[in-house]
Amino acid sequence: MKVLVVGGAGYIGSHMVKMLASDGYDVVVLDNLSTGFRESVKYGTLIIGDLADVNLLENIFIEHKFDGVMHFAANSLVGESMQNPSKYYRNNVSNTQNLLDVMVRHHVKHFIFSSTAATFGEPSYSPIDENHPQNPINPYGSTKLMVERILKDYHSAYGLHSVSLRYFNACGADPEGEIGELHDPETHLIPLILQAASGRRQDITVFGRDYPTEDGTCIRDYIHINDLCSAHAQALNYITEQSHAGAFAFNLGNGKGFSVQEVIDVVKEVVERDGYNLTVKDGERRQGDPAILVADSKLAQATLQWEPKFDQLKIIVEHAWNWEKQIIKLN
Ligand code: UFG
Repeated sequence: MKVLVVGGAGYIGSHMVKMLASDGYDVVVLDNLSTGFRESVKYGTLIIGDLADVNLLENIFIEHKFDGVMHFAANSLVGESMQNPSKYYRNNVSNTQNLLDVMVRHHVKHFIFSSTAATFGEPSYSPIDENHPQNPINPYGSTKLMVERILKDYHSAYGLHSVSLRYFNACGADPEGEIGELHDPETHLIPLILQAASGRRQDITVFGRDYPTEDGTCIRDYIHINDLCSAHAQALNYITEQSHAGAFAFNLGNGKGFSVQEVIDVVKEVVERDGYNLTVKDGERRQGDPAILVADSKLAQATLQWEPKFDQLKIIVEHAWNWEKQIIKLN
């Protein structure tokens, strides 16, 4: 089976490429390297290009006969999306439509889409299942929801089968240590705490201790990158090998929430074993952060026969820390 991974040089995409290649897939990566890194693509063929380039897409689809497409190439910073919605609607929606249209023209019928918990907006209950209303509160979430809706219409009209996977908090790194999380700028909690421990940052700031949670800090559902990727592999199998027809959507998390303070405590425990420590500061709430975001992933587990393997926060942090230690050695 030949799969196109768009955004395969990014954090989630590069781990997906590795998993597909080790499962025996023939992988082609398309990435414009705007946020991804050439050196993260360890397998398959890398084509450097942009989804805005319709001629390039046409040529790629003439040259390769794909069995499926996985799409990770999007801008994903909530704050930036509020400052610059144009960038988000153009890249996340219009460019995705270029990709879907070339697939339709070339009769490529299987699509796996990176969606997000941000499509739900402020939760009205927890954990969040697939029946929860989708009312995004920022342009990032809106763009992802728009694509989910486009996928439903493209299924009805053109017979395009798809699975949208709504990630909660993606984290961790390749257990073999070959690749890991690389963002510039980094905004995510676990890598930021690890950078505070390794000395790449001075400290970590807790964004608010006055939330309605037990310790006052926000609760999130942290899911290991390899568990996310195995859900994508199962999703592809669901619409290809198992021939399920439709535009499906599933929530992906571990179903267990950890507070910011609990994450800091676990990181401290892991890094102290190596003789590192970190400074924690308290700051104001970050705009737009819901108090609690936890996934109900029972539907994904039952339907895709998927099971998270690395569901212990400590293991997630250990893998991310192994990666951080490699980065500091490199610098
Ligand atoms: N946090 C801090 N200090 C930091 C960074 C984060 O206290 O320096 C807190 C945040 O306030 C939040 C938690 O740590 O409570 C997790 O924050 P992240 O930025 O790591 O992740 P988010 O939950 O904000 O974002 C994730 C995805 C987004 C997605 C969003 C859905 O990364 O792409 O979930 O709401 F949009």
